[in-house]
Amino acid sequence: MNGAADSVIIRPRPDEVVRLDDVKRHYVVGDETVRALDGVSFSIKRGSYWAIMGPSGSGKSTMLNILGCLDRPTHGAYWLNGENVAEMNDNALSDHRLKNLGFVFQSFHLISQLTVCENIEVPMMYLGIPPDERRARAEMLAERVGMSHRLRHLPMELSGGQRQRVAVARALANDPAVLLADEPTGNLDSATSVQIMGLFQELYEQGKTVIVVTHEPDIAAFAKSHIVLKDGKLQSCEE
Ligand SMILES: Nc1ncnc2c1ncn2[C@@H]1O[C@H](COP(=O)(O)OP(=O)(O)OP(=O)(O)O)[C@@H](O)[C@H]1O
Ligand SMILES: [Mg+2]
Repeated sequence: MNGAADSVIIRPRPDEVVRLDDVKRHYVVGDETVRALDGVSFSIKRGSYWAIMGPSGSGKSTMLNILGCLDRPTHGAYWLNGENVAEMNDNALSDHRLKNLGFVFQSFHLISQLTVCENIEVPMMYLGIPPDERRARAEMLAERVGMSHRLRHLPMELSGGQRQRVAVARALANDPAVLLADEPTGNLDSATSVQIMGLFQELYEQGKTVIVVTHEPDIAAFAKSHIVLKDGKLQSCEE
């Protein structure tokens, strides 16, 4: 199904942490083909800060699922940190995801029975990092997002903005190449949204690659580079 083999394969340069070459994601529904993504190519340099935007139905969620290694292109190549994800089997894909991506979701997705510190430790548990090392790193990350005063609290004892800070710390747990955020301020009031975007700005200034998917122009304005999707195609790409 993957068409990468019939086109010229150009490996990404070392400074390109993300590279898409003619990525398509088509869904066959009955006798109709939905072209959710239809030939998208772009690259993202290490340490840059991007927003992916577009109207409803333009392909943002489809793009996020592909960038996040939750789905694979039906055609084309997706290089994440030097490896073509489109060619990986499921096990290799989840391993690559765990090591290279940190996710921040609109609805935080914290585990309600675990404390702040334990939530931050979760991705490190999956990588088999020993408990002492995990704990020390989680405490350092909580400090980095301004949450070290709430280490033993449960998510329900935190405000929305605090929950999202914990989610950002968790996303950083395995020191991923890319921080991927899906409408990260969608459940926050505007003042708290600005604080969370300030946190992404700090991480960008510290050298992280940040990609935010959003339909809100005010939130996209925090990013330095912008991709706009329309009908599954790249309408614009401004670095
Ligand atoms: N599983 C699926 N099967 C068939 N078509 C799909 C599937 N998922 C998405 N699509 C179609 O692909 C197109 C892009 O959908 P997508 O969810 O990526 O848009 P979006 O930009 O995230 O929209 P929104 O802003 O409303 O969330 C739409 O036309 C949608 O109907
Ligand atoms: Mg969507």
